[in-house]
Amino acid sequence: VLDYHRGLLADELRTRAYRDAIARVVKPGDVVVDLGCGTGILSLFACEAGASRVFAIDMGHMADVAALLMRHAGVADRVTVLHEESTKVELPVRADVLVTETMGPFGLDEGIVGYLLDARRRLLRPDAMIIPRQLTVSAVPLELTDEYAKRVAWWSEPHFGFDLSPVRVLAANSRYFAYLEKSWRIGTPAGVLDVDLATTETTLNSGRATFTAERDATLHGFGLWFTASLTDGITLTNRDKRPATSWAQGYLPLEREIAVTRGATIELDLETDDGKWWRWRGSAAGTAFDQSTWFSMPPCGAVGSSQ
Ligand SMILES: C[S@@+](CC[C@H](N)C(=O)[O-])C[C@H]1O[C@@H](n2cnc3c(N)ncnc32)[C@H](O)[C@@H]1O
Repeated sequence: VLDYHRGLLADELRTRAYRDAIARVVKPGDVVVDLGCGTGILSLFACEAGASRVFAIDMGHMADVAALLMRHAGVADRVTVLHEESTKVELPVRADVLVTETMGPFGLDEGIVGYLLDARRRLLRPDAMIIPRQLTVSAVPLELTDEYAKRVAWWSEPHFGFDLSPVRVLAANSRYFAYLEKSWRIGTPAGVLDVDLATTETTLNSGRATFTAERDATLHGFGLWFTASLTDGITLTNRDKRPATSWAQGYLPLEREIAVTRGATIELDLETDDGKWWRWRGSAAGTAFDQSTWFSMPPCGAVGSSQ
């Protein structure tokens, strides 16, 4: 756990972007909520910007590390560390600013929207500033031959003399994290989902993008990443393999690859409920697909008990 958090701090693109955004948004005297504080680095930045009071919340054991660091930095009188899930926390005052870095490789996959909806309702002033204030999930159609062979098509072949092929459909309805090569792209990336974290009222988000195949290729799935607008003029993205961030990118595969010729239309509808599940459907060169992480495991109870 410590080394994971060291890696986050060592991701200078990420951490500097947050420091700059906090310096711009937090005003002297502000009350700040640091939702998912980890080491407490964003709380330290808030103190640096002049916050009079910070509530640093983490449901994991890192809360104790944050408390140690706040004492060490001499800001324990300003920063209250709470070892709780944010949904269970109650605060004595409503905050002026909320800062959080709870984005997964697909942006929405760590439940940021649901946690923010709850925090906006209970912990923040109505006009509170939120960092990040907006998240976009972008996609691009991909030909990722080796990845697809390794993670999806692998199940179609017998291994150790056994037919494992029923698992292929589960594997194809899973999402994967990977470093995406630009050479895998079949089209031009496009934003699919946009979430305004300051105003959204729902955890259910969906969006659509249409791509044109820029070469003859085999479509294996869609690459995904996020772009977070932390505040005016400061964005953070895991779009590219380089410069590297602490996030990889990810992809959603197709159950069956689809051959596309240059100029073919590829349509993608993407839907998620707070990253708990994802549905991707659409068509490519006239062939339809409709998949979901709902189908990445057999239904509960599909296996008989030993009793
Ligand atoms: C990616 S880390 C970021 C840590 C730190 N803010 C930073 O920027 O280095 C996210 C942290 O948020 C915590 N977390 C995520 N959702 C939370 C929630 N709803 N309530 C409390 N902690 C949460 C996790 O335990 C994890 O330590």
